[in-house]
Amino acid sequence: MGRLDQKVALITGAGAGLGAQIARRFKEEGAKLIINDVSDEAAQSVAKEVAGVGIAADVSDSNAVRRMLERVKSEFGRLDILVNNAGFGITPGDDETVRRINEVPFQQQAELEAGGPVQTHFDLTVEMTDEDWQRMINVHLNGTFYCSREALKIMNGQLSGSIINMGSIMGTTGGIGTSYCAAKAGILGFTRSLAREVVSRGIRVNALAPGFIDTELTKPFGSARALLEAQTPMGKFGDCDDIAWPAVYLASDEAKYMTGQVISPNGGFVMSQ
Ligand SMILES: NC(=O)c1ccc[n+]([C@@H]2O[C@H](COP(=O)([O-])OP(=O)(O)OC[C@H]3O[C@@H](n4cnc5c(N)ncnc54)[C@H](O)[C@@H]3O)[C@@H](O)[C@H]2O)c1
Repeated sequence: MGRLDQKVALITGAGAGLGAQIARRFKEEGAKLIINDVSDEAAQSVAKEVAGVGIAADVSDSNAVRRMLERVKSEFGRLDILVNNAGFGITPGDDETVRRINEVPFQQQAELEAGGPVQTHFDLTVEMTDEDWQRMINVHLNGTFYCSREALKIMNGQLSGSIINMGSIMGTTGGIGTSYCAAKAGILGFTRSLAREVVSRGIRVNALAPGFIDTELTKPFGSARALLEAQTPMGKFGDCDDIAWPAVYLASDEAKYMTGQVISPNGGFVMSQ
């Protein structure tokens, strides 16, 4: 018997990385899967692997999200688990940001060792466009809201459900990338508020806040990777299962007393509670 037998689960951004691995573990535990991704090809490929239904939709498009959840309702009749996972780190093609993230920390260190002052700066926020800021907030924070709102239209009537939002340690500790950190901090606040609101309907809302995990998202960390690993007590990046198994737990009835919580597999990068 699986821990998610007969449960219907929608995972956003599940065409790769963490979402795809969550889908694989959910499948092993008996869930019926809806695989969302902005890339139709990616969604269909993972859907095929886990014998699920692939639906292409951009989670930052509220109409597309509404249509996706209407399809879930008509094809499955219910929704037990929503994983709000879709997201991105550095905008693809933004080579200058990649360069600064990998070079500036070392240049600053060298300047300090030479007696200072520090003359090399990140200057990412001062140069950020409205469009770049809004895209980050739209996909992560607005996408989490749109998907949760439409999912609740199904879960409310069931008087049950588990919503899992993808935060990050960056939402708590900060880090280079103000829009990403702001979006992730917003997701953690949204999680706690929604958890209180829907507890009366038997719906649980929790978040995962991963540390640095090996996926496409962390590929741009070149020389900066060694710095991040040095700041991690376990000395390495995690793998996708480090996030997929806690997702299985939060989705399952084993987590029946968990709501408004953040589970943070991070190799010791942040220690709390
Ligand atoms: N990898 C890490 O170290 C790490 C750490 C903390 C948090 N996270 C979060 O985990 C989530 C997954 O990240 P990942 O590392 O698996 O990245 P990834 O790039 O491997 O996969 C992300 C997937 O989301 C999809 N996606 C992007 N924008 C979308 C949109 N608007 N609508 C639907 N799908 C969209 C992409 O096409 C891709 O398939 C993200 O929210 C990310 O911020 C990742």
